[in-house]
This record gives sequence, structure tokens and C-alpha cells, in this order.
Amino acid sequence: MRINKVVIPVAGLGTRLLPATKSQPKEMLPVGRKPVVQYVVEEMVEQGLRYLLLITGSNKHSIENHFDNDPMLVERLLSTEDDDLLREVDLRPEGAQIFYTRQMIPPGAKKPAGLGDAVRHAQAFVNDDPFVVALGDTIIHTEGKPDLISRMTQTHLNNDAVATIAVWLVEHDATRRYGVVKPEEGADLTQPFRITDIVEKPTPDQAPSRYAVAARYVFGGQIFDALDATLPGHGGEIQLTDAIRRLVREGKPVYCVPLRPNETRYDIGNPESYFRAFVDFAFDDPQCGEKLRRHARALLERYERGEGFSLGGD
Ligand code: G1P
Repeated sequence: MRINKVVIPVAGLGTRLLPATKSQPKEMLPVGRKPVVQYVVEEMVEQGLRYLLLITGSNKHSIENHFDNDPMLVERLLSTEDDDLLREVDLRPEGAQIFYTRQMIPPGAKKPAGLGDAVRHAQAFVNDDPFVVALGDTIIHTEGKPDLISRMTQTHLNNDAVATIAVWLVEHDATRRYGVVKPEEGADLTQPFRITDIVEKPTPDQAPSRYAVAARYVFGGQIFDALDATLPGHGGEIQLTDAIRRLVREGKPVYCVPLRPNETRYDIGNPESYFRAFVDFAFDDPQCGEKLRRHARALLERYERGEGFSLGGD
């Protein structure tokens, strides 16, 4: 069986990145030359996923516009005869199709009901097939050819799993920002492993390990029943983590695939990790990366001399 559907939730409010996200989605913030969500879509298409469902919300129209054809822009670029730019702005993914649906705010509520509720909106789209979930605010960058999704789908299918989760090792005090898993006793943590629990955003002293959920999942249709039975949890929201926990407690197989050393995860959801992502991608830019690295070196020396901010522009 081939898994070819992916659900990309992009409905979060981006509160931790205000004011930058006051009138634009956090998924449209640039990291180097491209908005975050473009990396996620490219990552999925490159790994063979063909049907992409973006779960949007209020204020997210620019995401749909970004992946649409823009005849006025094309006409303008045609007159400049810049073929490279023309190719850059055509973002309709080749051989794949993007669908959109909107996460409704529940009647009487003031904000969306959380990630678990967002995924619930994909039920008709996936129609009982196993599917991937890729959070739209996280880039997984692979040095070399990406194969995380195929490792995950293989693990999922080989073990008849109901859920398979990408994880990576975080610092002790970072557990409070992520879902954290409890590996089965004696598991080899360099290989895919089964888990016996998962907790959303535990404090370091309550965390069952330092393996955090890395924003990529594979699910079977069982997740929808689990989501329907899940009550609001952390932050008053319906948490995907809690639905997975329900499946684990029912004794169903839930597996994890650890990221490899050549795979880096960039979470755009908070200012520090967003800045880090931007710096990494900007430094690696083929056209201006080298100049930028020189600028950064000089700036760091200034900081070390206690002179601080600003070397000015070029
Ligand atoms: C969500 C999930 C969390 C996961 C994280 C990965 O949290 O609830 O379990 O570890 O994404 O980025 P959020 O970042 O939406 O608060």
C-alpha cells in the first residue's frame, strides 16, 4: 500500500510571534527566500505525497494565493524576460494537488479548538486511508535526499501501527514546549521504537523522556474516533497528543521514528527558533550567504568588544 495523502494544519493563531503575525499567517513568514509553508509543501511533494490538504483558518488567504497562479505577476515578469523569476513564482506543485478546508471556530468560542480539532477536519479527505500529518509551522531540513516520510510510512505499515510519530532529542528544559513520548523499555532509540505513553508539554520533572514530537506523523483512520472522544486538554484545546495517548492506552501500536543527524527541525512557532531558522537559511543562500557570514563574523567581534549592535548596511 502506498500512502499519498498529507494533511497540513496551518490554522494556528501565531500568538507567540506577534506583532509579525497580527495580519499575516505565521506560516507565511519568510525563512531565507521562501515562506515557511512553501518548504513544508515542497518537502511533502519531494517525498512522493500527491494529495495535500491544508487546514486553514481566518486570516490565512495569503497561503492560498501563494500557491495559486498569478496572471498579473506573470505578465509583469514576462516583460522583464527574467525566466528564473518566472519559474520561482510558479508554485503549483508538479504532479500533486492542493486542497483547502477551513477549521471552523466552534459556536460561542473565540478561537479555534486546537490541533486535534484541526486534524478532525481531514476525515472526509482521507477516507479511511493511512495519511501523513505535517505541521505547517515546522521545516524538517535534510542534508542530502529527504527520506523521513518513507521511513515513517514503512514503520507504520510494517508494524500495523495506528500512529507513527517523528521525534528528536531535546534539552531537558525544552520538554514544556512539545509533546513528549515514553519509549518502550529496552528499546533501541536509534531505530524506530514503540511507545507506552505520550504527554503534551510536560514540565521537565514530569517528562517521560527527552524525545519530543517533531511535527510529522502518520495515522490510520483510528485517530478520528480517538479525537472524537478527546476532551480539551493543555491550554483548553483538543490536543492531537491526547488522542494518540488514548490509542496507546487502548493497547494499540504507536511507533516513533527518530530524526537522523542529517535531519534538522526548525520550529517557527516561537521567536528564538524562528530567528535561528532564518539565520541558518540566509547563511546558506547561494547568492548572499557568503557576504552575510562575513557580516555576522564582524558583528560578533563587535559584540565581543562590547560595542554591540549594527555595522550598518553594505
Ligand atoms: C504542537 C503539538 C506538540 C508538538 C509540536 C511540534 O504544539 O501539540 O505535541 O510537539 O506541535 O512542533 P504547538 O507547537 O502547536 O504548540
